Amino acid sequence: TAHVESDLVNVLFTEEQIQGRLREMAAEIEADYAGGDLLMVGVLRGAVMVMADLARGLGRHVEMDWMAVSSYGSGTKSSGVVRILKDLDTDISGRHVLVVDEIIDTGLTLSWLISNLSSRNPASVEIATLLRKPEALAMPVEPKYVGWDIPNEFVVGYGLDYQERYRNLRDIGTLAPHVYS
Ligand code: PRP
Ligand code: MG
Repeated sequence: TAHVESDLVNVLFTEEQIQGRLREMAAEIEADYAGGDLLMVGVLRGAVMVMADLARGLGRHVEMDWMAVSSYGSGTKSSGVVRILKDLDTDISGRHVLVVDEIIDTGLTLSWLISNLSSRNPASVEIATLLRKPEALAMPVEPKYVGWDIPNEFVVGYGLDYQERYRNLRDIGTLAPHVYS
């Protein structure tokens, strides 16, 4: 196959833009947590790139842990079913937790995750997401840190996949129509 970048028809955010925005978000996070406890929880698998770059943008110590959830089971998004495939290895009771994901679409994943994590008595739980689709939002999710709001379009790259491909693109964009056919 050709270089994956050539399947993008429209680049929404370049590598430089993404890295620049993540540096700004990291500075906000650093100021808000002011050297206190911070446990970042990445949502596998899409959040891997954001987690890696956001965490490395912090000039302070941070713990990282991961969860994997299946948002839609074998059914569709609208089923609203969320299952834990991989739980945290960390006891978050009394901890300051920052959940990191790369996109909030319907909000199902993070609204479920936040209520699940909240029941474990953390000191705080906040959300950092690189992208959010306000028009697609169907569940109440209030991220404290948002990179950009985007239109309700299917985007890939920087962790976002189409059929498990394109996650390793450095840019974020929309796919050319030929990819789908
Ligand atoms: C994607 C994305 C978010 C979630 C957002 O993950 O990474 O985690 O969907 O959609 P929502 O707001 O409608 O729940 P997905 O469950 O596809 O798995 P992945 O991270 O492994 O790609
Ligand atoms: Mg995900």
